[in-house]
Amino acid sequence: MSEVEINLTVNGRSIQSSVEPRTHLADFLREQLLLTGTHLGCEQGVCGACTVMINGRPSRSCITLAASCDAADIRTIESFDDDPLMVKLRDAFSQHHGLQCGFCTPGLLTTAYDVVRRIPDADASKIRKELSGNLCRCTGYQGAVQAVEHVIADTPPTAKLQPSPRTQPRIGTASAISAASNTPARTSANISLPNEITDGIKLERRISINAPADKVWTVLSDIKSIAECVPGGSVTKVDGSVVEGLMTVGLGPMRANFQGAANVAFDPATQSGKLIGRGGDRLTRSNVDGEMTFQLHASGSDQSELGLDIHYKLKGPLAQFGRPAIVAEVADRILADTAANIAAKATGTEQASPADQPAGGLTLLWSALIGMFKSLFRR
Ligand code: FES
Ligand code: FES
Repeated sequence: MSEVEINLTVNGRSIQSSVEPRTHLADFLREQLLLTGTHLGCEQGVCGACTVMINGRPSRSCITLAASCDAADIRTIESFDDDPLMVKLRDAFSQHHGLQCGFCTPGLLTTAYDVVRRIPDADASKIRKELSGNLCRCTGYQGAVQAVEHVIADTPPTAKLQPSPRTQPRIGTASAISAASNTPARTSANISLPNEITDGIKLERRISINAPADKVWTVLSDIKSIAECVPGGSVTKVDGSVVEGLMTVGLGPMRANFQGAANVAFDPATQSGKLIGRGGDRLTRSNVDGEMTFQLHASGSDQSELGLDIHYKLKGPLAQFGRPAIVAEVADRILADTAANIAAKATGTEQASPADQPAGGLTLLWSALIGMFKSLFRR
């Protein structure tokens, strides 16, 4: 896999390095820079052990791609040795028994630092809630909460590290999506589409469809028709080869609204095509760029096979879905449902869509990717 050049600042030092696109920031910090104060627990964004400051904001380094940190300012626990606020927090954690084995402590202290500077009047209940994203197996949290309460009550020093102004558009907004592109072409949703995906993760799939190839092609080559075969989402606009759409996804107690667009090209002569798209979720501040080529084959008089070569790149918190095993499992589930729907539509045996599951969707790729998010959060 080709490497990506990054220039960033880590603990005040300028670092220039090459990383594989899939390298997580935590691995980069620990393995390339030997900053092992950043701990890894769950490696999927749940436990908070890997929390570091990115541009002054606490962030999960296990689900942040190092390649996405180009130009970022990273602070790990090692950089807080002489920070008066952190010194005070460390002392308070010791005094109130806010740690035992210490595994969670770098992440917990980093979050606590942010709590003290951001919510100077936080009470115990608020502190407990703010620390709830950092799991600890030892202490029962009482000591950690008391330590932060103590620091807040004792006129803490002003935090030396403050969040940087957001000079870049937030990841996941339409403007951020367009800023990430090197092509000026924009959709009406203000999304600029990528020309190609040069790095990222590849996925190849062959799916069987219980319908003859010619009928499947009729469904496949009609954007609205194929979109209706993927559960969830809606097409908002089709403008020539560009399709735009939205997808509302339930993420546990939250709802996320994904916005995306794709450029689609069909070749009826070879029953193949190519799609390239981009989407983002404002809530989770995550983006996805994806490219898919597809090829339909007849595999019998009433059977066909669809070959899919997918290449995608995720940025932001949802990058955790880039893990190949998870992607493969979820993609297979989504593609199986989609194949069944295509077959039903192609043979005229489709059922009306359930009211709570609106038909539509952007494209097979876009919907499959969003479906991955949906399925994982349902667990
Ligand atoms: Fe658990 Fe990163 S290692 S959130
Ligand atoms: Fe051991 Fe928190 S002190 S996991």
